[in-house]
Formats: sequence, structure tokens, C-alpha cells
Amino acid sequence: MSANNIIEMRGITKRFGVVTANKGINLNIPANTIHAIVGENGAGKSTIMKILYGFYTADEGEIFVDGQPRQIRNPHDAIALGLGMVHQHFMLVPPMTVLENIVLGAEPGNSVKIDFKQAEAQITKLSRDFGFDIDPQKRIEQLSVGQQQRVEVLKALYRGARILILDEPTAVLTPQEVEEFFKILRALRDQGREQGKTIIIITHKLNEVLALSDNVTVMRDGQVVGETPTAKTTAPDLARMMVGRDVLLRVEKPEAKPKAAVLSVKNLSAGSKLNGVSFDVRAGEIVGVAGVEGNGQTELIEVLSGLHRASDGSFELEGLNATRFSARQLKELGIAHIPEDRHRRGLLLEFNLADNTILGTQYRKPPVTTAGLLDEKAVVEKANRLIRDFDVRPPNAALPARALSGGNQQKLIIGREFDIRPKLLLVSQPTRGVDIGAIEFIHRKLVELRDSGAAILLVSAELEEVMSLSDRLLVMYQGRIVGEVDPNKVAQEEIGQKVGMLMTGGKKN
Ligand SMILES: Nc1ncnc2c1ncn2[C@@H]1O[C@H](COP(=O)(O)OP(=O)(O)OP(=O)(O)O)[C@@H](O)[C@H]1O
Ligand SMILES: [Mg+2]
Repeated sequence: MSANNIIEMRGITKRFGVVTANKGINLNIPANTIHAIVGENGAGKSTIMKILYGFYTADEGEIFVDGQPRQIRNPHDAIALGLGMVHQHFMLVPPMTVLENIVLGAEPGNSVKIDFKQAEAQITKLSRDFGFDIDPQKRIEQLSVGQQQRVEVLKALYRGARILILDEPTAVLTPQEVEEFFKILRALRDQGREQGKTIIIITHKLNEVLALSDNVTVMRDGQVVGETPTAKTTAPDLARMMVGRDVLLRVEKPEAKPKAAVLSVKNLSAGSKLNGVSFDVRAGEIVGVAGVEGNGQTELIEVLSGLHRASDGSFELEGLNATRFSARQLKELGIAHIPEDRHRRGLLLEFNLADNTILGTQYRKPPVTTAGLLDEKAVVEKANRLIRDFDVRPPNAALPARALSGGNQQKLIIGREFDIRPKLLLVSQPTRGVDIGAIEFIHRKLVELRDSGAAILLVSAELEEVMSLSDRLLVMYQGRIVGEVDPNKVAQEEIGQKVGMLMTGGKKN
């Protein structure tokens, strides 16, 4: 064993029923480095890190921290060893302050009294030392997503973490927040031998791996298939190792041939969040909406899918005023919706995959329902077809949706909504948390749907994604459409700059 490995995991195996999530994993993490873990959805990345953090116990294998064999039976053991973990879904209490969130979760030790003054001083110092820029007295609900993320990291540091595990930390951050966050991570690593932290980061974004990490481990199908210094690899190489074949990292699409307008939005408003937007989406085109999250995109999609009432203005579907229609009526008219928050809106996690494929109105129609009777066999057949066509893994219709990894949940929702053969598809953040092989797949499917004549309204916080998929690109800022760009006419970098400027209200260069 190498002397400077702060973490070594040897021969780790973990089974969940019939699924073996980790098969004999060996992992070496040198101290004071940033170590990336990449791999397809379901490869076992979260599982191996949850074992290190004591959430799960391995069925086989050993863990060494600081060169010593360790029993990590629960997160309490992990914290005592100097480990900290930030999960993709934050675990903060919104109405409470930053200070309360950080201090109250921490182990109080022997004393029952908490010295808030001292804790605040300590948090302020940490925040200043590493450039977090967080006010401990602010309530969590007043903070942006990026700031909440930093609170999670502060919380781990406050508890004495020397080794930070971050599971897809950038999935919900804006490009600028990502930059700031990476600066903090580098500062944490570079504090010198005694103080410097070790950071393990799971991400699907290969450009982040290349920009940030010192070393990278590639996992596939529960195993480690590669480990390399980041300087010695490239995005296409990593992609090939992850997926086992070459991956197209850019969208290839023929020119759109738009027909008549399917959706016409006129002066649509929703409370203070959406302020009089007007645009059309025609059959056979993808209209993208770029913008920093929280600028009215969510409200726009929710109004158009019938989940939220418009306060003013209207929208028409093929000339029919549909502004007052319910979500079910809109669905029956041929509007499909792939929501941004798949846990809240997309799936019933306790239901099995088969039942999840008939959520919505489809269960009332043949072949799933004939003569008023639900045909269980037809449901399973339909589920198996979607699972096959959309490469949902593991391919087992009887599993609860909860047992799927995040990316596979997304593929299931996409399959279900495409199966409606929609006239209009409303799609938000289609590839959030999805691996690069699946991104390629989803992008191709969206272009195919477009070319079959559907109108597509795409909202994504990934600038690159909206720029490369959209035939027309609208930019939203503070509830309004502040600009339109033709991605085919302008060079990629130029669009990036122009859109970036519009997205921030013209403040930035
Ligand atoms: N609690 C659980 N119960 C049953 N199966 C599980 C559970 N957790 C994970 N699995 C299965 O173990 C495998 C690995 O899952 P894991 O969440 O570690 O993947 P991942 O690499 O983090 O994927 P993603 O990139 O989608 O987050 C998957 O097949 C998943 O379905
Ligand atoms: Mg995961």
C-alpha cells in the first residue's frame, strides 16, 4: 500500500437482492488531492461512497483510512474518522438559519449546551478562509441553490471533515456557481499537508473532471475499469472507458423543417414570476429556453402543463384556447411533460416500473385498458418495451422505481412521455444527472421526435445543451423573454457570450 493514500478500499462487494452494485472494488485516494469518480448511471458510484461514509455496510472487503484498517458501521464512525459527505439532495431545513443548520445537526459531544456565539465565530472564519461568502444568520430559504450547497460543505468542515465526498455537487449549479465552487474546492485541497483536504467528487461532466481533478477512477457495471492521472486522459477516452464504446459528445441534427404553430403563447403571466411572455413553437422544431434557474422557466412550463394557473394572458394549442384546461385535459390534447424534479413530479417511487409507465391518462386507453378493465399483462408488456427501447437498467418491470439510479429513473420517464406520441413536448432539464451515453441517446431521441413532427419546448440550465439542441433559442430573465438567438447562424462561443449576457440582465461582459 502506498504511504500517501489517505483512503484505500480493497475488494469491496455490495449486493442489493439480485443486483450486485459493487463487485470487488479497489480504490486508492492519495491525500490532498481531488479525485473524480465517473461512470454510467447505475455503475455503483454512489454505493461505493455510501459504504465509505457508513450508510451501507459492504458484504465483503476492507477499508483503510490513514493506512489503518477501519470498521465504518455508520456515518457517526465515518465522521469520527474525518469523513464528510454532501448528497445530491440537500438535507437542510429551509426555515432555519445557516448557523442552526450547521450546529444543530452536529454531535454536541459531552456538553448539552451549545455555544452559538463561538460556533458563529468559527463558521464565519471558515467561510472567510475559503471564500464561501455565507452569512450564518441568513435562513436557508433565502439562499440560492449554490449557496445552499456551500452550507452543506461548511457543515462537513465544521464537523472536522478532512476527506470530503461530493455526490454530483454541480448538477444544480449555474456555470458561474460551478466556477466559484471549484475555487473553494481547490483552496480546500491546497492548505498544506496538515490542513489540506482530500476531495472525492462524483460527476457526469467530463469537462469538470478535466478542469478540477488530479486523478480519476472510471467505474462500469459495479467494477473499476480504469484509474489514471487526469493529465494523462481526455474526454473521449474517459467516455469510451465509461460506456465501452465511442460516444458522440456533440449533438448531430439535420436542419429543422418547421410547419404550422402548435403552441402560441400570448402575454402569458403567472403571479410575479412570469411577466407577459409571447412566442410560438411550431411542429418540427425545438425551441430552447436558456436562463439562470428561477427566472420564470419553471412557472412557464407549469402553466403550459396545467399544473399552475395563468394570472394573465393565454396560450393556444393548434388554435384552441387551452389556458383554462386542466393537466389531464392538456395531456389528452397531446401535451407530454418531462418535469425537472423527477422525484416530486415524475414518478411514484414506491410503485414498480410497470405501474409507473402508465401514470397519467394512458391507463384508460387500449391496449392497457379494454372495456373498462385494466389489463395487467398489457401493462407489463408495455413496460418491458419501454425498458428495452430506452435502455432502463436493471431491466426489471417489477422493481420499485426507488431502486433505480437517478439516470435510469429519468430514462423511464422519458420513455413514458415519448410513448404518448405527443404533439407538444414540454421538457425541463432532460439530462440532469444522466450519464454521457444516455445524454447522447436522449438527445438523439429528442431530435427524432422533432423530425417526426412534434413541437418541442426545451428548458435547460445547461447552456451547451440548449445551444446545441435548439433550432431557436429564447433567453429568459426575471420572468421575461429578453432575447432570441438563432443558434445556426452564430458561432458557438459567440452565442455563449451573448446568451450569457442576456441571462444575467446584461450586467456581465
Ligand atoms: N437501496 C437500493 N436498493 C436496491 N438497489 C439499489 C439500491 N441502491 C442502489 N441500487 C442498485 O445498485 C446499482 C448501483 O446504483 P448506484 O446508485 O450506486 O449507481 P450510480 O453509479 O450512483 O448511478 P447514477 O449515476 O445514476 O447516480 C444500480 O443498479 C441500482 O439500481
Ligand atoms: Mg449516484
